[in-house]
Amino acid sequence: MLGNLKPQAPDKILALMGEFKADPRQGKIDLGVGVYKDATGHTPIMRAVLEAEKRMLATETTKTYAGLSGEPDFQKAMGEMILADGYKPETTAALATVGGTGAIRQALELARMANPDLRVFVSDPTWPNHISIMNFMGLPVVTYRYFDNDTRAVNFEAMVEDISTAKKGDVVLLHGCCHNPTGANLNIEQWAEVASILEKTGATPLIDLAYQGFGDGLEEDAAGTRLIASRIPEVLIAASCSKNFGIYRERTGCLLALCTDKATKDLAQGAMAFLNRQTYSFPPFHGAKIVATVLNDADLRADWMAELEEVRGGMLRLRTTLANELRDLSGSDRFGFIAEHRGMFSRLGASPEQVALMKQEFGIYMVGDSRLNIAGLNDETVPILARAIIEAGV
Ligand SMILES: Cc1ncc(COP(=O)(O)O)c(C=O)c1O
Repeated sequence: MLGNLKPQAPDKILALMGEFKADPRQGKIDLGVGVYKDATGHTPIMRAVLEAEKRMLATETTKTYAGLSGEPDFQKAMGEMILADGYKPETTAALATVGGTGAIRQALELARMANPDLRVFVSDPTWPNHISIMNFMGLPVVTYRYFDNDTRAVNFEAMVEDISTAKKGDVVLLHGCCHNPTGANLNIEQWAEVASILEKTGATPLIDLAYQGFGDGLEEDAAGTRLIASRIPEVLIAASCSKNFGIYRERTGCLLALCTDKATKDLAQGAMAFLNRQTYSFPPFHGAKIVATVLNDADLRADWMAELEEVRGGMLRLRTTLANELRDLSGSDRFGFIAEHRGMFSRLGASPEQVALMKQEFGIYMVGDSRLNIAGLNDETVPILARAIIEAGV
């Protein structure tokens, strides 16, 4: 039976990780996979996370099953972190999931349960796994124009035109902040316009919030999501704790379904618990408990926020240094967008040949669409990358 399986194309980003590992060159630089790394190339455990784990180890007395939808302290902490005063637990269904990916998958399953004829609008480009999951589920995907390859900024006019064709019963997937793979984001006025379009069309937003705290700050990065939540009656939010808590392998995520009334919330909550039960039954506990412990303790929370700010500030500084270096080398401002982009990624706008050349000649690994992970850089490698970009003719 299993011999009938068709070979699956490997995930391009994960394949690139393997290629990098196998490269014997000393000075190779990994700007591929979306993982935060410090200046030494290490992905550290955050201080508050370690402390939370110590406390958990000292106090936990059982490993028996916990909540099917996650624990209430985690759900509440996530609701408040994402929505602040706009979090209304009485009308918000919440689900602990297997990472942000699990939240996206369950959000799409939920939407399809509610509307079997669902179409999903996604930005062009988007995180490739979005499309892959939707294709696997057999969901019709409609792309909306998003990124202007010339300016490397959002082509908002085109985006507006395209998402205006969505209808009630469709889902419009939006990146809450730190757009992956481009690094180009909506400003708050543009979020307001998106809200107006959603009001007009009646389409349901699904906000993928995988990088809260990595762009302009913990509160600032949630501003678009909060604005949508304040104006649109039904909103789905798929949040990941992988990046902002640095707990990638703990697989911690959360799906929020904002509803208009308590009865709908109860329906959504029941359907979401059902989806967990059918997929993997109970969601992972450990990472969610870390997050709840950190967010619900004033000292741990303050320390986590301070460390998150260090991480964010470090990436911003690298962006500015790289943009300055490229300005000096190119004698132009054409790479200024790198300092304007936010989050871990920027799409450089290099051709596949130029990306391949940077890999061959300089041992610099970035995703084939020229997405580079800013956090893969440090003060020594920024000038090497800048020189490679110029020599590759970008
Ligand atoms: C845009 C986006 N959404 C969601 C995720 C999911 O993250 P995870 O499942 O690791 O929590 C990622 C991870 O790279 C991402 O880049």
